[in-house]
Amino acid sequence: MLKAAVVGVGAIGQNHARVWRGVSGVDFVGVVDSDPTAATRVGTYNNVPAFTSLEALLEKVKPDVVSVCVPTSLHYETGLKLLDANIHVLMEKPIASSLEQGEALVAKAKDKGIVLAVGHIERFNPAVMELRRRLREGMAGRIYKVLAQRLSPYPPRIRDAGVVIDLASHDIDLMRYLVSEPITRLVGETLQGINSDREDMFDGLLRFQGGALGVLDVNWMTPTKVRRLTVTGARGLFECNLLSQELFFYENESAPSQWDALSVLRGVTEGNVLGIRIQRHEPLAAEINDFVGAVRDGRAPTVTGEDGLETLRIALAFVQSGKDGTPVHYGQPVAPR
Ligand SMILES: NC(=O)c1ccc[n+]([C@@H]2O[C@H](COP(=O)([O-])OP(=O)(O)OC[C@H]3O[C@@H](n4cnc5c(N)ncnc54)[C@H](O)[C@@H]3O)[C@@H](O)[C@H]2O)c1
Repeated sequence: MLKAAVVGVGAIGQNHARVWRGVSGVDFVGVVDSDPTAATRVGTYNNVPAFTSLEALLEKVKPDVVSVCVPTSLHYETGLKLLDANIHVLMEKPIASSLEQGEALVAKAKDKGIVLAVGHIERFNPAVMELRRRLREGMAGRIYKVLAQRLSPYPPRIRDAGVVIDLASHDIDLMRYLVSEPITRLVGETLQGINSDREDMFDGLLRFQGGALGVLDVNWMTPTKVRRLTVTGARGLFECNLLSQELFFYENESAPSQWDALSVLRGVTEGNVLGIRIQRHEPLAAEINDFVGAVRDGRAPTVTGEDGLETLRIALAFVQSGKDGTPVHYGQPVAPR
């Protein structure tokens, strides 16, 4: 039986602990938090031993798999210690604070043949899973644009990452997952220093190799929580509410009726609106089960270390673009359409 533990049991880590407790075929063996009150509270709640250091966990209950849920600036050192001890790691997003750190983690996991998954949780949102399935079937036809809105009130506990790295990384990963093409150029605008000493407000624009656009509107300056994703295609518009796990399709009546007949689009008119039935589940439980499956079956997890690294690369490029006021190009720029 696999032995599992959680390191860092704050806002998200306590949810990892709750989920791990119920994973079948897994023995949940302990939690770690440098704050003894948090460690004891979550340990007691889940009926597992609580430790105040990673070293104590490794010494007393050597786990096989660990969720790393410490603040982002500690992902690297925590992850490296675990990988060095041959322990499979589910790293909360983002993979690390810098590309060098992320690359070192990916290289270490590869070298040791250990699973390193990254917690880009929206891939496990059932509405996203259904959206991706339908996009792949061609229901929207050619994808022209993906728009992501992620607006929140300010979280004072996040002190080591700005809104691009902390929040927009979810949407960058989602766009990469849905479009499945390299990003060839991007430009970002940020407002900094309003609530934190990093970016608080972010608007970004990117282009995929095949020509599709990605638009990101992300901030923690909004007194309500919005998580909205739309995909505009030749055959219509998907609208996804990531919070309520709802998915709608607004059909373009002017598009040719056969999904595979990607012929010339003659116009856009309002057609039927379809509410798509979603079998709801908890994304975190699906993410953790996917990680366990990867460890057991020796396969890649749905979000690999390389995925986490690429998403961080794009996020850092957006931050730099916002600072410099210049676009970033990767390789050959695509011809404008
Ligand atoms: N996937 C998601 O949707 C999601 C949501 C929230 C946070 N996160 C990520 O999870 C991470 C944690 O975020 P959070 O919001 O839970 O933060 P948090 O501050 O609420 O929790 C972090 C916990 O780690 C503990 N900690 C700090 N240093 C430690 C150390 N050296 N060893 C052990 N424990 C230590 C803290 O005491 C705290 O309890 C961040 O990287 C964040 O980006 C992901």
